[in-house]
Amino acid sequence: MRMIMAVLVLVVSVSLTEATGCVSTSGLQCYKNSTKRDEDFFCEWDERNPEKTQTHTLYIWDSEKKRFLMYANCGNQSQRKIRLEELGIPNRKTDIWVQTQVGNLTCNSSKISVILACMVKYSKPQIISMKRSAGSLDLTLDKPNDDKRAIYEIRWRERDSKWQTVTFETEDRTQDFYKLHLQINSSYQIQLRRQAKVQSALCNSSLHALWSDWSPMMDVPLEIRSPPVIRWIQNNQSNGTRHIKLSWDAPPAEESVGGVEYNLTFLVWPCKKNKRMQHSTVNQTYNISITYSEARIYINAINKVGSSPQGQIIIPAVKHLNYCESHMPSHVTKANNKTCLEWYKLEDGETRPKTVNSSSTKSFKHIKNDKDVKHFVRHYYFLHIKRKGHYQTVAMCPFYSEQKAPINGPANVNISDLTHESAVVSWLSIPVAEQQGFLQHYVIWISGQGNTKFHKVPANKTSFLIKDLHPETSYTVSIAGRTEAGNGPNSTVNFETNSKEKGLSWQDHTILSVCLFALLSTLICSIAARRLKLLPKVPSPVIDTTEFRCPEEQDLSQMMEEVHEFVLLLRQDLSKPRENVTSEQSTLLQDFGLVVFEEEDEEDEEGGVIDLNSIKSCFYPNPSYRGQTLHLPEPFHMTDSTSKDSDTESTYRNGLFFETKVLECDKTSL
Ligand SMILES: *[C@@H]1O[C@H](CO)[C@@H](O)[C@H](O)[C@H]1NC(C)=O
Ligand SMILES: *[C@@H]1O[C@H](CO)[C@@H](O)[C@H](O)[C@H]1NC(C)=O
Ligand SMILES: *[C@@H]1O[C@H](CO)[C@@H](O)[C@H](O)[C@H]1NC(C)=O
Ligand SMILES: *[C@@H]1O[C@H](CO)[C@@H](O)[C@H](O)[C@H]1NC(C)=O
Ligand SMILES: *[C@@H]1O[C@H](CO)[C@@H](O)[C@H](O)[C@H]1NC(C)=O
Ligand SMILES: *[C@@H]1O[C@H](CO)[C@@H](O)[C@H](O)[C@H]1NC(C)=O
Ligand SMILES: *[C@@H]1O[C@H](CO)[C@@H](O)[C@H](O)[C@H]1NC(C)=O
Ligand SMILES: *[C@@H]1O[C@H](CO)[C@@H](O)[C@H](O)[C@H]1NC(C)=O
Ligand SMILES: *[C@@H]1O[C@H](CO)[C@@H](O)[C@H](O)[C@H]1NC(C)=O
Ligand SMILES: *[C@@H]1O[C@H](CO)[C@@H](O)[C@H](O)[C@H]1NC(C)=O
Ligand SMILES: *[C@@H]1O[C@H](CO)[C@@H](O)[C@H](O)[C@H]1NC(C)=O
Ligand SMILES: *[C@@H]1O[C@H](CO)[C@@H](O)[C@H](O)[C@H]1NC(C)=O
Repeated sequence: MRMIMAVLVLVVSVSLTEATGCVSTSGLQCYKNSTKRDEDFFCEWDERNPEKTQTHTLYIWDSEKKRFLMYANCGNQSQRKIRLEELGIPNRKTDIWVQTQVGNLTCNSSKISVILACMVKYSKPQIISMKRSAGSLDLTLDKPNDDKRAIYEIRWRERDSKWQTVTFETEDRTQDFYKLHLQINSSYQIQLRRQAKVQSALCNSSLHALWSDWSPMMDVPLEIRSPPVIRWIQNNQSNGTRHIKLSWDAPPAEESVGGVEYNLTFLVWPCKKNKRMQHSTVNQTYNISITYSEARIYINAINKVGSSPQGQIIIPAVKHLNYCESHMPSHVTKANNKTCLEWYKLEDGETRPKTVNSSSTKSFKHIKNDKDVKHFVRHYYFLHIKRKGHYQTVAMCPFYSEQKAPINGPANVNISDLTHESAVVSWLSIPVAEQQGFLQHYVIWISGQGNTKFHKVPANKTSFLIKDLHPETSYTVSIAGRTEAGNGPNSTVNFETNSKEKGLSWQDHTILSVCLFALLSTLICSIAARRLKLLPKVPSPVIDTTEFRCPEEQDLSQMMEEVHEFVLLLRQDLSKPRENVTSEQSTLLQDFGLVVFEEEDEEDEEGGVIDLNSIKSCFYPNPSYRGQTLHLPEPFHMTDSTSKDSDTESTYRNGLFFETKVLECDKTSL
């Protein structure tokens, strides 16, 4: 019994030491990289329990001939390259296993039975390009290294959902290509692997087919639909260089999955060499220095499945100069600097045309006499240099191959501010297209009374004050532009100076009429004042209300309207001392006077409308409404804000109102 127990313990302990000490390997694979005959083989396995001291031995057993084809000590490595020469003939069925040894202990991996010649395992596929459009994804894949047909398996999924799988086969020697149909709106992840199609009678069993490893997981974004929107800021402009900071937006997230790159194309150098510059970046900003000439910049956003439409900006040339003091800096030596001369005709004398001329060999002297440079037409040139990758404009000027006098005189010649001794002549500058040369100045002749005076006016002026004229004299002004080739045609205008005495300008007229109004208003005021003085101070109780027939006998509305208007008028007059009555107020007076009469007629016809304000004013004279005379209704306050309701004023008003009432009522009773 004890013996049995001891044996058991021994067995268990032995098996235990074996279990911990020697762990057999797994995942043994032997294969060649391609279907080519003379390919070497490659065996590899996993180590489940790597120990420093363990060693592996690879056994290849010919199961037909019942002998070892080879065995190889692999040390502590987990792979072994087997050259064809070592192996001999690989076309027979073989058993392969790995023996692992740890100290005294050995253990064997499970055997695989294969025909080595059939064992092909391709490298994992690589996606050369993806192009996505309208729900389909075109995949271009690298060929296996033997250029042979293959079976592919592709799997794809929307993020965090289940894989979908499909297999497809490709042909010999054609590009490995596949069109996968996807939802338009989603981004995906895809992976591929492939398998050789070994065409040998030996290898019909699918056991022999080895899948390659899965390709790395690839993100499939949506195609980028819109071009990048490019912004630019000119940071500074000095010494012929402009520093431009470009920035642009990234595409939306679904289009950016897997990364976006931007291809920038610059057209900043008009000459052939270096004309197109390219840069590619993952950033969304870029700084560039450009010349003073027009620059064009294009940007594509490129993601894993394609390129966006091209975004474009044109950075316009700096404003064209009108004139240059000197041409071509002498310090630029063509031989040692990368130079580019750019020139073009200015359309309408101002605008850069679509196409421009450029040369990296010609100098300004050449182009000035070039047959393409038309006479009498303004052209423009730039001279750019490129130094240490920086672009710089060292000269820019307008030029003519030959100049001529202006084709026309200035347009819209006008005389203004005419007095008896002076006048201002003004005109529109001659358009560049009509100048035919650089306008040096304008010449002005003023002829009258048999004399002609002559003036020069700078080319950037468009008006001139003619002085020292005689009154009541007619003059002729002729004005022409001048270039170095001479004067252009005259534009003429005639005028006559004003007489010294009679000649009144419109300002004089207004002053006069204002004075007249003032006079008139003082007159009216004085009449009113005289009237006031004559009036006796009538205490309110004296007013006989029965005499005041207005409310009872007359149509209310008719009366009220009149009285209201009149009260307004008089009160306004009174509240201001006489001196302050201006012409404006006097016109007001007149107007109100008119209104009173007009309204009388109208109201007679209409009749029915009753205004509360007018009722109040109509009842003024009644002593029981005295309170209301002190607190005038709203409209009065609005028409005269300066007045204050002092006691004396109100008595005055009372007297006045009283009188007006009587007057009005008398009038209507007539
Ligand atoms: C098979 O290809 C892999 C990678 O391409 C290479 O490392 C290996 O050496 C190749 N094996 C053989 C036997 O050519
Ligand atoms: C394999 O053995 C070598 C010496 O033969 C040793 O230097 C190396 O560290 C060992 N590697 C491993 C993974 O045990
Ligand atoms: C190998 O085994 C023998 C007995 O089976 C033992 O005596 C010896 O110590 C072992 N050696 C090692 C290195 O374990
Ligand atoms: C492992 O394989 C070798 C070689 O075939 C053999 O001698 C040995 O007995 C095997 N060991 C075990 C534990 O199967
Ligand atoms: C794609 O999304 C747009 C709005 O985002 C929606 O109008 C359209 O129907 C969607 N199309 C598909 C096929 O899901
Ligand atoms: C421009 O050039 C002058 C001399 O040629 C130099 O002194 C100046 O610093 C330059 N300015 C800039 C902004 O580079
Ligand atoms: C982007 O630019 C690189 C060079 O910078 C070029 O090779 C590539 O073809 C360009 N891609 C596109 C889509 O234009
Ligand atoms: C992107 O910008 C960072 C800093 O803004 C810069 O260091 C990096 O070089 C830029 N990368 C490229 C490709 O221009
Ligand atoms: C190139 O031109 C610059 C002026 O723009 C000048 O300073 C420089 O000396 C020139 N370089 C050579 C090598 O002549
Ligand atoms: C006109 O040109 C002169 C120099 O010719 C210049 O001093 C002046 O400032 C210019 N006037 C205007 C309004 O441009
Ligand atoms: C313009 O008028 C002036 C003065 O009348 C005259 O001397 C000159 O010849 C005229 N010019 C032309 C081109 O007619
Ligand atoms: C009216 O004129 C006098 C002096 O003439 C002045 O004291 C008073 O402030 C003026 N009143 C108004 C309202 O202009």
